[in-house]
Amino acid sequence: ERGDALPRDLAGRRVVVSAGGTREALDPVRYLGNRSSGRQGYALARVAAQRGAHVTLVAAHTADLGDPAAVDVVRVGSALELRDAMHAAAKGADAVVMAAAVADFRPDALAAHKIKKDGSEPPPLRLALNPDILVELVAAREPGQVVVGFAAETGDETGDPLHHGRAKLSRKGCDLLVVNAVGDGRAFEVPDNAGWLLGADGTELELESGSKALLASRVWDAVATRLA
Ligand code: CTP
Ligand code: CA
Repeated sequence: ERGDALPRDLAGRRVVVSAGGTREALDPVRYLGNRSSGRQGYALARVAAQRGAHVTLVAAHTADLGDPAAVDVVRVGSALELRDAMHAAAKGADAVVMAAAVADFRPDALAAHKIKKDGSEPPPLRLALNPDILVELVAAREPGQVVVGFAAETGDETGDPLHHGRAKLSRKGCDLLVVNAVGDGRAFEVPDNAGWLLGADGTELELESGSKALLASRVWDAVATRLA
């Protein structure tokens, strides 16, 4: 979809999108990270700006992506930095979308100096739980604000990806949850997404396989409906 063909239905709205993967420092030169490219969050930010929104993009580590035009970009590293930036940006916003891949855990201590392999036993890697930023944003949600989460789910012995997505939607309490079915090399580092857009109101929209820009359009369609 060309930007100039998009509706201007987000004009006058302020939206916040997180993108990329957090990096959790272990020592001054090392971190725990993940493979998120940030492409979906960037597509969400770009499409929202094209539809007239004022957009703040809170970007953790991403692939080498150019800043979307006419978007305010705030760069963060760790989950704790992302959390602070999201809470600040969410104040007064009409919609908040958590597309970032937030590390569930961080090293429970940041070593002041580079960890050396001088002992015979490798040192244990102790982890601390990161806050659930999406759950916090839902708890802090202002009247009328729409909060959107993302989930990449695989099927397992307890259920298929849609089943896990429904459970996650109710656990998180957000208004919308984008569920991507993963496995077989889908979703990570590939251009296409497919899955479901689940609403807290019980609506379930199947998302055809398509570009991240197309998925972004589907998400903003649902957000615009809820803001109207
Ligand atoms: N998320 C968040 N803060 C965290 C972890 C996740 O805000 N500490 C957000 C993600 O940005 C995403 C949504 O929550 O929008 C779902 O992330 P996911 O990792 O699927 O959920 P978890 O609750 O961490 O569950 P899981 O054990 O399946 O990883
Ligand atoms: Ca997680």
